[in-house]
Amino acid sequence: MSDKSSNRTIDRKQSHVEICLHGDVLFSGKSTGLERYEFESNALPEISCSEISLATTFLGRTIAAPLMISSMTGGYNEAEELNRQLAETAERFQIPLGVGSMRQALENSSQRESFAVVRKYAPTIQLFANIGAPEIAKGLTESEINILLELIRADGLIVHLNAAQELFQPEGNTDFRHFLDQLTTLTAKLPVPVIVKEVGCGISASAARKLIAAGIKVIDVAGAGGISWQKVEEIRYTREFGGENRFSLQALDELLNWGIPTAECLVAIQNLKQEEPRFSSIEIIASGGIASGIDIAKSLALGAQLAASARNILKALHEGTLERTIKSWLNDLRAVMFLTGAATIDELRRKRLIIKQ
Ligand SMILES: Cc1cc2nc3c(=O)[nH]c(=O)nc-3n(C[C@H](O)[C@H](O)[C@H](O)COP(=O)(O)O)c2cc1C
Repeated sequence: MSDKSSNRTIDRKQSHVEICLHGDVLFSGKSTGLERYEFESNALPEISCSEISLATTFLGRTIAAPLMISSMTGGYNEAEELNRQLAETAERFQIPLGVGSMRQALENSSQRESFAVVRKYAPTIQLFANIGAPEIAKGLTESEINILLELIRADGLIVHLNAAQELFQPEGNTDFRHFLDQLTTLTAKLPVPVIVKEVGCGISASAARKLIAAGIKVIDVAGAGGISWQKVEEIRYTREFGGENRFSLQALDELLNWGIPTAECLVAIQNLKQEEPRFSSIEIIASGGIASGIDIAKSLALGAQLAASARNILKALHEGTLERTIKSWLNDLRAVMFLTGAATIDELRRKRLIIKQ
């Protein structure tokens, strides 16, 4: 890759953080769908609040709470500091962390430290490498991916699907041909499990079925209801590229808000797991608009192994309230567990959710 295009990627990653923090980027007229559910209250909890445990497992390892910090950044100078702080926080809470797309680490070795820093500050937790579907489709080799895995001593590889983002991105790559074939080949060769996630448009049951057939172990739904990456890229397109309308005004709103709500994805993939016993070991991550411990609790009762958050975590970090925010989410979760009579996360998963009228 030329210096020019490598610099463009660095600028883009920086601009994404700024737009996610300050831009009008949330879905409009569409939510996660989690607000449609509530737990059945249990007047006889028969547990003590003090005995509640938030510990659970993810990919066979114990984690202190069912929460993950989603893939966000890396690949430019300031990202090193962001990743250091995210790593320190994840280590303190003993929860997993994903880094942002690592394409930069392959293209520009001076940017490797902005990713490597996470392992220095998070020596004991699960860390996940990240790469985009277009890179996999283009035929990224096993040895290139192993470089990325080694850089952070990763416990797994996250591959992100982002067709709508690439479509809206002024310099986007919309060639997704051969992705599933390449993914199947890679998952068979890699020494670590592969997770596939969206970035806000969600994953349907039929897409999940194809991903499972390709050998992936975890699906992170990253559904609609939080950030719309179409909106992020549309802001860049008009602000930084002086772009004019590419789509009809009638279609634009629907395209900017394209995606399957998070709760719908969870229900669909959980149903798929129940219909097909051979899929039972597949773990689901709930993400896309997670904003409280109640959202986490509902996600678990809808079938998720854990929930993950990006933008709200980034905002809290920016505002200096990250630790307090995570503590409050975990307290929300404990509150729901007490009020439903669940002393463990496994018990919470079996609690009844009611669809609000
Ligand atoms: C600033 C920022 C950068 C992101 N960069 C990546 C990325 O490089 N790779 C990726 O898989 N997802 C990336 N995401 C998407 C998130 O991991 C997540 O899937 C998405 O934002 C939906 O979750 P949320 O509603 O909690 O933000 C990024 C999110 C944010 C806020």
